[in-house]
Amino acid sequence: MQDIECLGVYTSGGDAPGMNACLRAVVRTAVANDIEVMGIRRGYEGMIAGDFVEMERRSVSNILQSGGTILKSARSEAFRTEEGRQRAADNLRENSIDALVAIGGDGTFRGASKLCDEHGLGVVGCPGTIDNDLYGTDQTIGYDTALNTAIDNIDRIRDTADAHNRLFLVEVMGRDAGFIALNSGIGGGAELILIPETITEMSMVKERILSLMTAQRRSTIVVVAEGDELGGAQGIERALRDDEAFSDIELRSTILGHTQRGGAPTASDRVLASRLGVAAVESLMDGHSDVMVGVTNNEIKLTPLHNVYGRRKSIDYDLLKLTQILS
Ligand code: F6P
Repeated sequence: MQDIECLGVYTSGGDAPGMNACLRAVVRTAVANDIEVMGIRRGYEGMIAGDFVEMERRSVSNILQSGGTILKSARSEAFRTEEGRQRAADNLRENSIDALVAIGGDGTFRGASKLCDEHGLGVVGCPGTIDNDLYGTDQTIGYDTALNTAIDNIDRIRDTADAHNRLFLVEVMGRDAGFIALNSGIGGGAELILIPETITEMSMVKERILSLMTAQRRSTIVVVAEGDELGGAQGIERALRDDEAFSDIELRSTILGHTQRGGAPTASDRVLASRLGVAAVESLMDGHSDVMVGVTNNEIKLTPLHNVYGRRKSIDYDLLKLTQILS
C-alpha cells in the first residue's frame, strides 16, 4: 500500500464527454481513502502556472451528466520544454502533491510519463478522448457519446439527402484514427466510409458514387474522417466538382466538427468513466505508476504509458468490408 498525501488531478488535450464523470470518481475515491485532492486547472498549462484548487466530495456534485470539463483543458507548448516541466514539478511539490491522475489522450500521457521519468512523480492515466485511438483499452471515455452524436447527425442528413436525391459528404473527427468514421458510417448506413488507416484512390470513390447515384438514383452519404488522405470533405468535394461526370449530381458537404466533442455523456461513457476513475486512484494506492487504466473484455487492465502512446490501436478491418455488403 502506497501512502499518498495529496493527489493532483487534471484533464488535458481535447476534452471528451465523460471527463467530468471520471473526475468525480477520482475525487470521491480519494476522499473515501482520506487522501487530499487538488484539482489542476487547464492541464499542463495550469500545472506550470500553479493554477490549483482544493477539491472535496461536494466539488464534484452534479457534474456526472455534463460534457466538457470543470477543470478546463489546454494543449501546452511550454510543457514540451524541460524548463516548463521543472516549473510544473516545483509547483506540485510546493503543494505537497505526490501523486497524479491524468485524464486525457496520447499527448497527455507523453507528458505524464516525462513527469514520472524526470521528477519521480507517481502518475496514472485515464483514457479520455473521443477518438478511441488509445492502445490498452477497448473504448476511451467520450468515444461512445461522440459516435452517437455523429450517427444522430447522419440520420438527420439522410432525411434531407433522400428528399432531394443528393450526395452528402459528412466529415467526422479523427485526425489520425478512423474509429468514429467507421462506426458512425456503419451505424448511419453510409454508402462509403473513408478513414486515415486505408489508402483510397479518388478514382474508386468517383466510380462508387457514380454507380450508386446514376444507376439507382438515390441519396448517397460518404462518411469521411477529417484526417483521410483525400483531404476530408472539402478535398473530396473539390475533386468531384472539378469532374464533368459529376455536373448533374447535387452535392453538399457537412463538417460535424466540435459538435462531436460536446453534450451529455451516454450511459456507457458515464459508467466507463466512473470505473476508470476509481481504478486510477486504487492503482496509485497499490503502488502502480506510469501506467494507464483501461477496460479490456470488461476487465480493468493496466498498460505502461509508453506502450499506450508508442503503439497504434488497430481498427477492425472486417467492419470496413461490411459497408460493401450493406450499402
Ligand atoms: O483528439 C481529439 C480531437 O477531437 C481530434 O479528433 C481532432 O482532430 C482534434 O481533437 C481537434 O483539436 P482542437 O479542438 O484542439 O482543434
